[in-house]
Amino acid sequence: MVRMELAARTVSSSDVALTSALADIGCGDGRIVVMAVEEFGARKAVGIEIDRHLVATATQKAHASPLSDRISILLDDCRRVSYADATVVCVYMGVTGNAEMRALLASLPEHVRIVSHSYTFDGWTPAASSTGTHQVPTADGASESYESEFAVYLYHGQGVARC
Ligand SMILES: C[S@@+](CC[C@H](N)C(=O)[O-])C[C@H]1O[C@@H](n2cnc3c(N)ncnc32)[C@H](O)[C@@H]1O
Repeated sequence: MVRMELAARTVSSSDVALTSALADIGCGDGRIVVMAVEEFGARKAVGIEIDRHLVATATQKAHASPLSDRISILLDDCRRVSYADATVVCVYMGVTGNAEMRALLASLPEHVRIVSHSYTFDGWTPAASSTGTHQVPTADGASESYESEFAVYLYHGQGVARC
């Protein structure tokens, strides 16, 4: 799961405030969609998640938001969903997941921003990328943490269309 500071970097990489609709592919616990409307001014955010337990968590989180009317959580397979209304699409699905989504995302119009966490898309050149390190708490919940590297890649529809 993306930690909050990385989620913020993911959303802020996309100029989300300028957008009408953000879709988070594989939204997990919903932190990105909630953050998109609450902190970055997205008019609408949709999370798509295949794990029903995570959907329940994300739905709870969305309902708890004062801007819940702008957030939707869908229990679905992201490969079967239409992103026609999205202006920003976030994805953090791994090598295989990105490969599976590539054709679908390539069909989106020029103005759409695609923000990929940690993984690139074969043959696509990011318009921008952002790397850094962050502290990850140890799994056992001890106070110690370790430093981990991260990367966020921003693709513009225009760049995608050329591929
Ligand atoms: C690495 S997590 C990212 C979660 C969240 N986007 C974040 O950044 O915190 C990937 C998520 O994708 C979901 N997922 C995997 N395959 C999926 C599919 N075909 N359709 C929808 N969600 C899927 C997983 O259940 C998991 O919650």
